[in-house]
Amino acid sequence: MLQVEQLHQYYGGSHILRGLSFEATVGEVTCLLGRNGVGKTTLLKCLMGLVPAKEGKVSWEGKAITASRPHQRVQAGIAYVPQGREIFPRLTVEENLLMGLSRFSAKEAKEVPGFIYELFPVLLEMKHRRGGDLSGGQQQQLAIGRALASRPRLLILDEPTEGIQPSVIKEIGAVIRKLAARGDMSILLVEQFYDFAAELADQYLVMARGEIVQQGRGADMEAEGVRGLVAI
Ligand SMILES: Nc1ncnc2c1ncn2[C@@H]1O[C@H](COP(=O)(O)OP(=O)(O)O)[C@@H](O)[C@H]1O
Ligand SMILES: [Mg+2]
Repeated sequence: MLQVEQLHQYYGGSHILRGLSFEATVGEVTCLLGRNGVGKTTLLKCLMGLVPAKEGKVSWEGKAITASRPHQRVQAGIAYVPQGREIFPRLTVEENLLMGLSRFSAKEAKEVPGFIYELFPVLLEMKHRRGGDLSGGQQQQLAIGRALASRPRLLILDEPTEGIQPSVIKEIGAVIRKLAARGDMSILLVEQFYDFAAELADQYLVMARGEIVQQGRGADMEAEGVRGLVAI
């Protein structure tokens, strides 16, 4: 389980995360929704250790990781798909995926595990193409595949549907559902696309002004008026 307690973060003088707390359970998709600029990406960067938390506590599998460096969090089984994908455009698809294996020994990191190509057959077809030559949707699939290469137990995704065509959104949704169904992973999905989030969420969280202002079960999202809270 991921536990976040009373997290605070600032950029200069602006207070971005204001005592934010929540939990994300293994075997569930937790969808975090919120309008632009409320601090969703900042929260994820704090969870990854890319920006240090000023105050508060982050625990994963019962251990405090608040002070851990990003690579230590990867070692602890946490993987991150950043907003805007951030693949390596000049590396091939295969090389991008191999980068995701960096937490393993050289022997274990020799080749791309087959399950990634099974989840995303397009990456096998494109394995020798440069990342930068892929479409936006294919790059997103590559970014998710690279994160999965580290065999995470906590997968964090920042707006994976942003700027992506509907057919690929469907494929990404199917992969997230498949991963969730395995039951051994916790998935934290930040989304602004309400329908996508509502379809996948076991738990939902709504963020505003640097706090969680509402939460509940995914099945109750419509009844609890979440669509109106996050409509752009
Ligand atoms: N590196 C940064 N330096 C200063 N301000 C930032 C930085 N990154 C984000 N911000 C500001 O922090 C706020 C939250 O941003 P962000 O976490 O990206 O929100 P979201 O992901 O919900 O759109 C916004 O007002 C944004 O302008
Ligand atoms: Mg963001």
